[in-house]
Amino acid sequence: MRLLILGGTQFLGRAIAAHARAMGHDVTCAARGVTGMVPPGVRFIRVDRDEPDGLAPLAGEEFDAVVDVSRHPGQVRRAVAALKPRVAHWTFVSTVSVYADVRTIGQRADTAPIRAPTAPEIERSTEETYGAAKVACEQAIGERAFVCRAGLIVGPEDPTGRFTYWPMRLGQGGEVLVAGTPDDAVQLIDVRDLAQWIVHAAQTGLTGYFDGIGPTYTRGQFLAECADGVGAGCTFTWVDRAFLESQNIKRWAGPRSLPLWLPLPDYAGFNTRDTSPAREAGLTVRPLAETARDTLSWARNAGGAVTGLTADEERAALQAWHASRSEGDGGERSAARSPTVPCK
Ligand SMILES: NC(=O)c1ccc[n+]([C@@H]2O[C@H](COP(=O)([O-])OP(=O)(O)OC[C@H]3O[C@@H](n4cnc5c(N)ncnc54)[C@H](OP(=O)(O)O)[C@@H]3O)[C@@H](O)[C@H]2O)c1
Repeated sequence: MRLLILGGTQFLGRAIAAHARAMGHDVTCAARGVTGMVPPGVRFIRVDRDEPDGLAPLAGEEFDAVVDVSRHPGQVRRAVAALKPRVAHWTFVSTVSVYADVRTIGQRADTAPIRAPTAPEIERSTEETYGAAKVACEQAIGERAFVCRAGLIVGPEDPTGRFTYWPMRLGQGGEVLVAGTPDDAVQLIDVRDLAQWIVHAAQTGLTGYFDGIGPTYTRGQFLAECADGVGAGCTFTWVDRAFLESQNIKRWAGPRSLPLWLPLPDYAGFNTRDTSPAREAGLTVRPLAETARDTLSWARNAGGAVTGLTADEERAALQAWHASRSEGDGGERSAARSPTVPCK
């Protein structure tokens, strides 16, 4: 295949380029060359998709398949107009943030309600309009495309540092602050598994709307498998939403967050998407322990990004939690409700 990746210089796009190259395809990446480098053996063409004629360097090139990772409707509209009519297969990497309902459990890509798109004159997305802008991007693609709505993408080279917090933290061992309960849901996809599926989709001509995400784990399983992968000896202290909010500990990602925690029931459906259609269409996932081990190895060796609580912030929160437990009821009842338990 002659494969063009619009992007391809970081994380997912780069993993797609690397895997496609390893499969023997002829791979070209088109980007500005600001964010990173393409993998070895991959051709790079400099383009600026924010310019009206920014794709001109691709004129005269022939491709069998295109993968676009953009989040900006203007970029997507221009790429579709310039390239889609002469390409056999088109993949657009979208996101589960296009969905309007994060409360309902077990939703599927083909039936779940979608947000309204950004207005037609909107060219670029912002953090606030990301989901709506991706809807506008999807609508610009038209028929005959593989629209892959990715969930949380994790693994080596993740620039966000959200998942990476956990292999790094568990790798240090000791008493670990964790949010919610062991039964809460966690859902994610290793970047390398998603990349393999996207290349597979182009090879096989897969079209339609799919969620690109792995199975739902319980948070207890997630932690135990990650701990297994990094060979950690640790205990988990489970704390509830009220405590986290009282300590000003943030949700999901960023400084002073406990990464991947989302408050329930507000986000009860977010980590429970039914991905059986994706599995039936060829998505396979590696063991979580492998993802955790490889992410830790990358983060330590390459100084990869990590976000979340600092060691001092976590220690202070654990102290505050234990103090509040012993003040409240002498420690006995609440210790039974929210125990500190070994990781396996
Ligand atoms: N990370 C997650 O957990 C997650 C979850 C759900 C969905 N997603 C989706 O998954 C995809 C992730 O893609 P990714 O990891 O490859 O990262 P990305 O941040 O989407 O990569 C953007 C790529 O586009 C290029 N680019 C940016 N501005 C450009 C411009 N003006 N002209 C030409 N190229 C430009 C960048 O290279 P240069 O800067 O060098 O130009 C880079 O290669 C995105 O579609 C995202 O919405 C991610």
